[in-house]
Amino acid sequence: MNILRRYSIAPSENHTPGVSVKEYESRITFRIDGRESSYVFQVDKEGNLEHLYWGALIAPEDDLTYLTKCNIPGLFDPTGILDTNTNTNSDENILIRNDSAFGRERQNFVGKNSKLLEWSDGGTGDFREPSFKVKHKNGSTNCPLKYKDYKVMKGKPDILESALPSVYVESENECTTLEVIMVDEVTDFSVSLFYTVMHKYDIIIRRVQAHNNGEYPAVLEKLVSCTVDFDAEYEYHLTQLSGSWARERHINTNKLPNGVSNVKSVRGTSSHQSNPFVVISSDFEAEEDFGQCFGLCLVYSGNFSITSEISENKRLRVNAGINEEMFSWLLGSKTDSDSNVFCSPEVILSYSGNGLGGLSRDMHRMIRENLIPKQWRYKVPLTCINTWEATYFNFVQKDVVEIAQAAKNAGIELLVLDDGWFGKRDNPTSSLGDWVPYEKKIPNGLNNLVQEVNDAGLEFGIWVEPEMVSADSKLFREHSDWCLRVPDRSLTLGRHQLVLDLTRDDVIDYVYNAMKDLFTSANIKYVKWDMNRHLTDIYSSKLDSNRQGEVSHRFMLGVYKIFKKLTTEFPSIRIETCSGGGGRFDAGMLAFSSQIWTSDNTDALSRMEIQYGTSLAYPLSTMGAHVSAVPNHQTNRSTSMKTRSLLAMCGTFGYELDPRKWTTKDTEEIKSYIEIFKNISKVIYEGDLYRLWNPFKTKSMAWMIVSQDKKRAVAFAFKVQREIGSLDPRLKTRGLDGDKLYNVKELCPRTLVVNKASGALEHSSVGYPILGDDIVLKGKTLERAGLPVNFLFDGDSVCYEFCSK
Ligand code: GLA
Repeated sequence: MNILRRYSIAPSENHTPGVSVKEYESRITFRIDGRESSYVFQVDKEGNLEHLYWGALIAPEDDLTYLTKCNIPGLFDPTGILDTNTNTNSDENILIRNDSAFGRERQNFVGKNSKLLEWSDGGTGDFREPSFKVKHKNGSTNCPLKYKDYKVMKGKPDILESALPSVYVESENECTTLEVIMVDEVTDFSVSLFYTVMHKYDIIIRRVQAHNNGEYPAVLEKLVSCTVDFDAEYEYHLTQLSGSWARERHINTNKLPNGVSNVKSVRGTSSHQSNPFVVISSDFEAEEDFGQCFGLCLVYSGNFSITSEISENKRLRVNAGINEEMFSWLLGSKTDSDSNVFCSPEVILSYSGNGLGGLSRDMHRMIRENLIPKQWRYKVPLTCINTWEATYFNFVQKDVVEIAQAAKNAGIELLVLDDGWFGKRDNPTSSLGDWVPYEKKIPNGLNNLVQEVNDAGLEFGIWVEPEMVSADSKLFREHSDWCLRVPDRSLTLGRHQLVLDLTRDDVIDYVYNAMKDLFTSANIKYVKWDMNRHLTDIYSSKLDSNRQGEVSHRFMLGVYKIFKKLTTEFPSIRIETCSGGGGRFDAGMLAFSSQIWTSDNTDALSRMEIQYGTSLAYPLSTMGAHVSAVPNHQTNRSTSMKTRSLLAMCGTFGYELDPRKWTTKDTEEIKSYIEIFKNISKVIYEGDLYRLWNPFKTKSMAWMIVSQDKKRAVAFAFKVQREIGSLDPRLKTRGLDGDKLYNVKELCPRTLVVNKASGALEHSSVGYPILGDDIVLKGKTLERAGLPVNFLFDGDSVCYEFCSK
């Protein structure tokens, strides 16, 4: 057939990642190639965008149109005119051949519902979950969009809604963007579908921009960030990260049933309960080291939904975006150019042919290098001591300074003053919103306190919860209309507090100014930005009744606006976000904060599962992880200092202890762990993660991190529960260079030994390395034969370091 190549960046002949478009006489195909993957779709004869393929790289010149010749499922065909014997596709068979039988509308009806589509409308024959819903002046939501045009661009254009977080690149050569425009000619409503392929990954960033160019305003009732249709397979499985407060992001894999399954939040945050990240795998549950996996991760922190629908003919549709529940958006008409466009958040599509491990490694690198704020990309955070579990609300300046002084002896570099320093905050019932130091606790002003902490040799960080207001606060007494509330109804309190109405510019300004004043009032190097309750009473007194469906998303945009302004003005303040622990751990937050508090559960054994689950999408460097007291305040369980330290090293590494209580021996021990961390932190922060033992399957957890040049690596193994009488498998490494020689050294060998007389575990003054001395072995030997582990008690751990010779 005659190819009319109109535009092509990075021609696929030599497989240079990029976008190539081929125009034929009656169709256009779009091909998007990542490092080792391809994504292909075409414009069909009816103007639909028909999905053809997403998976491992395909031969550059192969035309995938033949894939539309699918098996036609049984069709109602009383007159026998459909040619189901010849296995022809829905286009040519259903749409073209049968004008005389059913008339045009009937043919579309059948074809659309069984097609794989990039974008789907409801009400004109596709009965699966649609990609969008827009209500026009006459009350109809029918809006069949047809292909209109496309553009291919080097680099990644900015999102028109500049408040939305987004993946960034530093040079336009890092990615290529395809924009495909679809229009409804009756209403002049259109969408632009953006696909940005990141050349060094198997990652495509998708987003959608809706545009009402019609005579009348219209109401957008749904707009997903992407629709991804998959061809029929015998089974599909979905892996999601679900949980609750203190049990966030546990891995949950299920076979998808027929019909719709939904991973969602309506809490105004991405939530503890669900995470805006899923992995689809076919035939088998996603495995760690092999098999195809398809990841979808929203760059969004508010209400979201990822629906998966197995249709009647076993094809799968996945829609990801803002949750349509509680959402609507009034779009102006063509004359209202400032209000007739709506932008969806971005969604990161990632493909791996090497199981979950490959998918995570690509996601991790991309998040580390193209999402978190630039200035923190290769900077390991300072080791910190956080006052929360040490003092809760009970402290005065003297306590804080003494904690700093004692922490300094162990080599800790940053003190974070948690909740309780402002207004009249002695407990959680008051003062949120009054961001001035509590005189009773900090009598000489914040600057004075910070000065004393700095004098003790530590940098200073502070806790805030800017999106909230306490019912008992000066702010609420003065501006009781500044919170989300439904007129004439009582307020719903959560943790004694209310949510500020961040859809309003005056409230946004207040929060921004309060934070700015705080950040400039003293030498603040770090901010822990909390958000401790979910949204209720979702109503803003400043918006008209027909705009109340916009509140949840506008709230999120308000939060992002504040973050954007503050992080731009104060680039040297590192922000850790938090939401009742790990209730807002998502790619949206990571665009502003390089780290997120992973969970209020600081128990090491619980953290194994939480951190392991979180690592499916998010890099270790982003996980707030601290050593806390034993018995643990959440689980009442005790684990060794070694295990608590090793787990915290697999994250941002800090302490929630009261160092005033440490003996000299404790301080020395903690100091030794900090030294180990300093030595391996670059590997942990910038290396590739290989998960070895899955705590959800094995009552143990192990993983290793290998530097990009494969010269260094570190492996951690933890035993949740020992089974007497059975051996643990050897730790078989992954990711090392098979032909390199590595010196293997056990870091912090066990010092806890059993007192034979009493049976108690006691500290010995010497360590007992499992291997005796260091050993030197080839990478392939370590991978194939593995290393011995030796666990003496529940919660025991081992850490090996690998350095190439
Ligand atoms: C949340 C956080 C905790 C702590 C408290 C303070 O629960 O997750 O780490 O900061 O708030 O109120």
